[in-house]
Amino acid sequence: STRKKYRIAVIPGDGIGKETTPEGLRVLDAAARRFGFDLELTHYDWSCETYAQTGKMMPDDGLEQLRQSDSVFLGAVGWPGVPDHVSLWGLLIPIRRGFDQYVNLRPCKLLPGATTPLANRGPKDIDFYVVRENTEGEYSSVGGRMFPGTDREFVSQQSILTRIGCDRVMKYAFELAMTRPRKKVTSATKSNGITFTMPYWDERFAEMAKNYPGVTTDQFHIDILCAHFVQHPDWFDVVVGSNLFGDILSDLGPAVAGSIGIAASANINPEKAFPSMFEPVHGSAPDIAGKWIANPIGQIWSGAMMLEHLGEKAAADAIVQTIERMLGEGGPRTRDMGGQAGTVDVGKALAEAVGKA
Ligand code: NAI
Ligand code: MG
Repeated sequence: STRKKYRIAVIPGDGIGKETTPEGLRVLDAAARRFGFDLELTHYDWSCETYAQTGKMMPDDGLEQLRQSDSVFLGAVGWPGVPDHVSLWGLLIPIRRGFDQYVNLRPCKLLPGATTPLANRGPKDIDFYVVRENTEGEYSSVGGRMFPGTDREFVSQQSILTRIGCDRVMKYAFELAMTRPRKKVTSATKSNGITFTMPYWDERFAEMAKNYPGVTTDQFHIDILCAHFVQHPDWFDVVVGSNLFGDILSDLGPAVAGSIGIAASANINPEKAFPSMFEPVHGSAPDIAGKWIANPIGQIWSGAMMLEHLGEKAAADAIVQTIERMLGEGGPRTRDMGGQAGTVDVGKALAEAVGKA
């Protein structure tokens, strides 16, 4: 039998990224051994520290180097002294755009022991995904400023929706819903106020829905949808939105599901024409970096999403179930979840449990 091998580019980045990434790898390694595949890791030290030495977040041929891998596993990027736009636009954005990672995916799932800010809600009530379009929409570079400094000064920036762009992210959302028990997709819109692009979004959504008769659909304007996330998180299964609406929902969703330390995310090119990138939602947390108290679960869960994307679903499920079980049984937890354990304690406990059949 031929063992499958996946090439993983590892970029720990800055701050707690350097502490959580090794724990992510520890658990991935345990899963690989138990489920019988190999991970070939290549480490890259690209970070704000590298920037201070070289003036670049990554080398000029950085994307070509990463292209050799099946996936990118990232910690967090950003550090005081280097402006956030430099670190973001020097590393993360080029990877997301250059590799056409048009789906930004965030699970919003209340784990046992995590505290939701919502009263009287438990793990059964909050379990959905936000699927954000990641390449076009409101975040376009079409527009400009004219007559600067005069009475006639004006600015404009156009939203660009393409048929290809809408269809491919919606298709992803429907395919994802098909893998889930509830099989439901909710569309975020604003076609009452934004009268060309959003009706078009609705039209493409209705068209895509025809291909999936087994999937239930609904749609809400973005303003009331935000309210429903807070008041009725149990209504949602898969929620798809344009770049701007998805951006808002993909911060609100994990926020209703509790600690920033457990939130995971993926930037996906579903066709696998390019590597996809998996990273926790949190940043480099300079306030706790170096203390080894960061919660590694967001990183570890991102690793599970990576395995699912690579086709190792059983291994991915085993990791997520182990996280849920360990938290439910009162296993070790970091301070942000009310415990006393360190980053490495949690990583080791999870790796050991994942490794056991
Ligand atoms: P942050 O997520 O780094 O920290 C926000 C708060 O959450 C802090 O109090 C931090 O201690 C806490 N926190 C974050 N992750 C945690 C974990 N795993 N366990 C326990 N507590 C945790 O966001 P902030 O402070 O706004 O940004 C810090 C730096 O990170 C900035 O340079 C920013 O640009 C960068 N950043 C990078 C991201 C990325 O790489 N994708 C995402 C967000 C921010
Ligand atoms: Mg955001």
